[in-house]
Amino acid sequence: MKKSKFPTPDISHLKSGDFEKIYEPAEDTFLLLDSLEKDIDFLNNLRPSICVEIGCGSGVCLTFLAQILNIPAYFISTDINPAAVELTGLTAQQNGVNIQTILCDLVSGIEDRLEHQVDTLLFNPPYVVTPSSEVGTPDISASWAGGVKGREVTDRLLPKIEKLLSDNGIFYLVIIKENNQDEIHDLVGREKFDCETVLSRRSGPEFLSVLRFTRKIT
Ligand SMILES: C[S@@+](CC[C@H](N)C(=O)[O-])C[C@H]1O[C@@H](n2cnc3c(N)ncnc32)[C@H](O)[C@@H]1O
Repeated sequence: MKKSKFPTPDISHLKSGDFEKIYEPAEDTFLLLDSLEKDIDFLNNLRPSICVEIGCGSGVCLTFLAQILNIPAYFISTDINPAAVELTGLTAQQNGVNIQTILCDLVSGIEDRLEHQVDTLLFNPPYVVTPSSEVGTPDISASWAGGVKGREVTDRLLPKIEKLLSDNGIFYLVIIKENNQDEIHDLVGREKFDCETVLSRRSGPEFLSVLRFTRKIT
């Protein structure tokens, strides 16, 4: 197995009780970290200045990005779960990076200010197929409950990607096979965005992938 060049952020400040309230970093989280590490030269060349993570959970993904980029940038993370917002602030502090945290649904409240400003957008969404009635509760179940096709939360974001991303903006999205990559590409906009799989990995019953969306060169 390839050895990671960058250490995973320190989460020793988080206790087992915290993971009853927020998502504990797992295989999907680490696949996203590995994808960012794999893309680091590409990301540094793009010189992102506004980086946003939706659904930050423990905060490890955006903290990792802040640590591995070789340029200063502005980091914003959102979550619908108040405990995730609070603990992401602590994770950033623990690792010596600066992240603005916002308690909100997706990017509601800031999306107009972010129009065509986001250079790097991350989302490891609740992707598990569940009954729709389980979606949207602002607690630990929001970490996994994805409703129909596991996409009820993700699908509300996808049509906003074009509006959020800057000219060179990139969107990283974690999915499982059941989420249907082709339909996701349609919803982001096949005519405007290319979609590539950065990494894929089987984890128990899940086949996880990290997708990277970039604007088509016109
Ligand atoms: C699978 S967890 C990922 C957590 C973290 N990013 C990681 O990779 O370990 C999904 C996260 O999305 C958050 N979430 C779910 N629905 C959301 C929504 N509508 N708006 C913002 N965050 C949401 C959950 O609270 C949870 O923290």
